[in-house]
Formats: sequence, C-alpha cells, structure tokens
Amino acid sequence: MNKIFNECCIKGLSKLEDEIIDLCITSPPYDDLREYNQSSIWNFQIFTEVAEQLWRVCKKGAVVVWIVGDSVVKGEETLSSFRQATYFTELGFKLHDTMIYEKNGASFPARRNGNRYSQIFEYMFVFSKKTKPKTVNLICDKANRWAGYINFGKATYRDKNGDLVERKQKTVPEFSPRNNIWKYNTGKNYTTKDDYAFEHPAMFPEKLAEDHILTWSNEGDLVLDPFMGAGTTGKMAILNSREFIGFEIDSAYFEISQRRLKAAIAQSKEDICPNCFSNKVVKNGTRKGKQRFRCRNCNCQFINTYSSRGYSEKVKKHCLKLYRDGMGFREIERSTGVSHNSVINWVRQSSTNCAKSH
Ligand SMILES: C[S@@+](CC[C@H](N)C(=O)[O-])C[C@H]1O[C@@H](n2cnc3c(N)ncnc32)[C@H](O)[C@@H]1O
Repeated sequence: MNKIFNECCIKGLSKLEDEIIDLCITSPPYDDLREYNQSSIWNFQIFTEVAEQLWRVCKKGAVVVWIVGDSVVKGEETLSSFRQATYFTELGFKLHDTMIYEKNGASFPARRNGNRYSQIFEYMFVFSKKTKPKTVNLICDKANRWAGYINFGKATYRDKNGDLVERKQKTVPEFSPRNNIWKYNTGKNYTTKDDYAFEHPAMFPEKLAEDHILTWSNEGDLVLDPFMGAGTTGKMAILNSREFIGFEIDSAYFEISQRRLKAAIAQSKEDICPNCFSNKVVKNGTRKGKQRFRCRNCNCQFINTYSSRGYSEKVKKHCLKLYRDGMGFREIERSTGVSHNSVINWVRQSSTNCAKSH
C-alpha cells in the first residue's frame, strides 16, 4: 500500500474499500486553532464526516488514536474533544482508554497575574471498532525498583467458595508496562530531527507516533493518518515495517511529508519504492555491488541504501522488547538469530541510559 495523497481526507477516504485499516493515529485541526496555510476548514459537521469514514474503513478491532485538545473561547474551554469522543462512541467505537500526551512546555505559559495554569497536555482518545483492540503490545519500560526480588508477603485470592488460595510467588520483573500518561520533549531536535519539517506548526513527536504504532499494530499492518501534516505517523510506520496511507490537504505540508517518507524509506530495510512508496518491487541487477530494484507500480529504478553491517535499530528494539517481556538471552538468539552477546550489550547500554536519565 504505502500511499499518500494531497487531498481532503473525506474525499480520499471515501475512495478506500471497507475495513482495510488496522490502526489510525491522527491529530485533526482541533478547534481551528491554527490556520494551516488557510487550506482547511474545520467544524463539527466536517468532523462527523471524517469519523463516519473512519468507522467504515477500519477493520473490526482496529484502533483509532484521536489526539486533540480544546481551545479557550470567552474564558471557557470548548469541550470539542469530548463531543468528538462521544460521537465516536455513538458510531459504535469503544472508548478503550483516555490517555494523555504531556508536553514539556506550553505554547502559552501561565502568567503570574493570569487566571489559569499552563496548558501542557492533549487527550489521546484510544478507540477500538466494535470489540476490544485486536492488537495490544504494551510497552514495558517502567523500571521496577524491586526487580529480581520475590513479592513481600503472600500473594492470595479468594476462590468461588470464598476460601483463601495462595498464588505462586513471582519474581518482580525488571520492567513493567508504563502508565497511560506519556510525556515527551517537544521542539527542535526533540519532536523530530528533520529541521525542514518545522515548517509545519503542529507536529506531534515522532516517538509518540512510534509508541502508538508499536502498541496497537504488528509488522505489515496498514496504518492511516487522515490529517498527515508533515507525515510524522507515516515516517514512523515505515521505519517500523508497517504500511501507510495518508492524506494532507495543504500542498506545502504534503511536500514535507513526501520528503520525510522518502528519507524513511531510504533508512528502512524494506524494499519500498522511494517514488510512489509501493512495495511491489522486483530485483533488477546490481550497481557498484549494490542491489538495484524496479518498481512495478511506477517503473522507477532505485538502489536500497540499507547497510547490512551491524543490526538495524528495528532489530535492536525488537530484541530489547523481547528481553523486557521476560525472554532469556539464549532464547532471544534462537528466535531472532541475533547473537546473545549483542543483546546483553544492548541491555547494558539501555540500563546505563535509564540510570543516567533518572
Ligand atoms: C494537527 S495537524 C497534523 C500534524 C501531524 N500529526 C504531524 O505530526 O505532522 C492537522 C493537519 O490536517 C490538515 N488538514 C486539515 N483539514 C484537512 C482535510 N480535510 N483533509 C486532509 N488534511 C487536512 C492540516 O493542513 C494540518 O496539516
């Protein structure tokens, strides 16, 4: 799939088939807070049309992460976010979780003589279509202080007859699932290192997109962002071996996302066409010792710049995840082919980094 379109998402979504999307991560132009080059119009009617299309294109159990905030009008918060959340549930989506995206700074910091505190968060409403989410891979990166110890006291529960039953005691793992408030540094070098992308005034951090992608989808799944902006969701989907489809109404932002997605493709191991983003590519000889490909979709020829020396960031992350989920070093080696010594080194590095940041 891997396709992006410079058009209004309502029109674009209406051309998609039913039930093809595994995950949607998006941040709409909430409350018309920003003008986005005067390209977009936003109101509740338009929102309902988008939400109805999302309902149609999502698979059963697909997740929609809807990232929004409210503006203050005449001294009062608009509550648009909650109206939208309610509408999603009226369509049949289940509100799986109301998560918070906490920023390290505010666009309008509170003044001492003002009457409200700095607004530093946005809602991340996590909806799933009809049933519970079909994919959940909780990120386990909350370090446990008592890692390696057995729980204090006896772990017990009452059975159906009310009798006290003792549970087997478990060793506290090194990491547990994180909480549902996610905090990110924002701004230059934090939201993204792609300087040129800051032409867009309202990107969310790449890490935020990546964390949702890893949590609610699997490799090969199709991820959608109907309000793609500078292409953050698309970039992270491609870097994490998901397929992507996105819409952006403004041509200047569309060009930024196109540039970012091309760069992501060059970085990723996947053989994807950097011109049209199709994965229908065939090998087409070699050039200077490097594999050359031809895209069956647009016929362009390209060379994949992925270096086979060392392990990719993706493999490293995968191994660290397996370790945090409780797999042993040798088991990881058997399941991924990565030497147990490399995994041990990565775990050491990541615990040193964790220690430094605490
Ligand atoms: C909050 S921004 C999204 C930013 C994005 N998450 C990122 O990290 O770059 C919302 C985007 O939606 C676009 N937009 C507004 N109305 C649209 C529509 N009807 N169809 C497609 N895109 C639209 C705006 O131009 C803007 O770039």
